[in-house]
Amino acid sequence: MDVIHSAADLRARLQRVPNNVFVPTMGNLHEGHIQLIDIAKPRAACTVVSIFVNRLQFGPREDFDRYPRTLEADCARLEAAGVDVVFAPDEKEIYPDRQTFVVEPSDLQYILEGAHRPGHFRGVATVVLKLFNLVMPHSAIFGKKDYQQYLVLRDMVKQFALPIEIIPAETVRAADGLALSSRNAYLSAAERKEAPRLYAVLKQAHAEIERGARDFQHIDQQSMAQLTRHGWQPDYVAVRRQADLRQPSERDRELVILAAARLGRTRLIDNVEVTLR
Ligand code: PAJ
Repeated sequence: MDVIHSAADLRARLQRVPNNVFVPTMGNLHEGHIQLIDIAKPRAACTVVSIFVNRLQFGPREDFDRYPRTLEADCARLEAAGVDVVFAPDEKEIYPDRQTFVVEPSDLQYILEGAHRPGHFRGVATVVLKLFNLVMPHSAIFGKKDYQQYLVLRDMVKQFALPIEIIPAETVRAADGLALSSRNAYLSAAERKEAPRLYAVLKQAHAEIERGARDFQHIDQQSMAQLTRHGWQPDYVAVRRQADLRQPSERDRELVILAAARLGRTRLIDNVEVTLR
């Protein structure tokens, strides 16, 4: 496995390979990331993973400075997972100048996560386009844990006609249901015990819709109230259409319930797809 820090070295290394598959990350890797690599590996001769904590996608009051940076442990995991190339640039390498050109996503960037994290998806789309231009993969894997991010990037690739296939991966969870996330490390022991409730509330909403409930706004409010009763500060729980995250009508069959809530100082997100027959 080659660990590469500069864009020039990356280009030189990748010139030798006919095709590669790409898994972008911010590091502090867990089983969720490793699953993306397992999906990637059979798809190309060369699997490239990037590790870069992208300042552009963090708000001024967010956790950029305290985001866990664990490059050595990450590289050990990636080596064991059979990755060929790790691209771990520093900030100067990705942003040698102030980034004045940006990718402006569709209106999707203003709702749900975007409403609570202004500029977040612009920052994500801008760095992912740049990473795509450096790695030039023929496919890239993204987790559905970050559902809205996956949709924004899928739309970006389509609208800019990038020759890259975007492949979604299911959310990997701990045994108690909590979606794996680097931010879980911020939770105290008591919070970690409470944290699986987010998924439990989503599963409950899922069951109600399967039983025929169609007052989606009532489901949203009831789910948020349940979280609040247990000490959470929910940003949203929302039943939406899988295709575009718009409000569903009673005829929509492909739904997703998305949630974001703070538990103490930690903000967690999760979602559950509902496909009605
Ligand atoms: P990061 O949070 O490190 O996630 C990297 C990839 O792993 C994303 O595609 C994310 O959806 C996926 N992932 C994280 N937790 C997962 C889980 N429990 N199950 C399945 N997949 C999971 O997302 C980012 O980094 C950044 O925004 C990035 C795309 C790298 C741009 O900076």
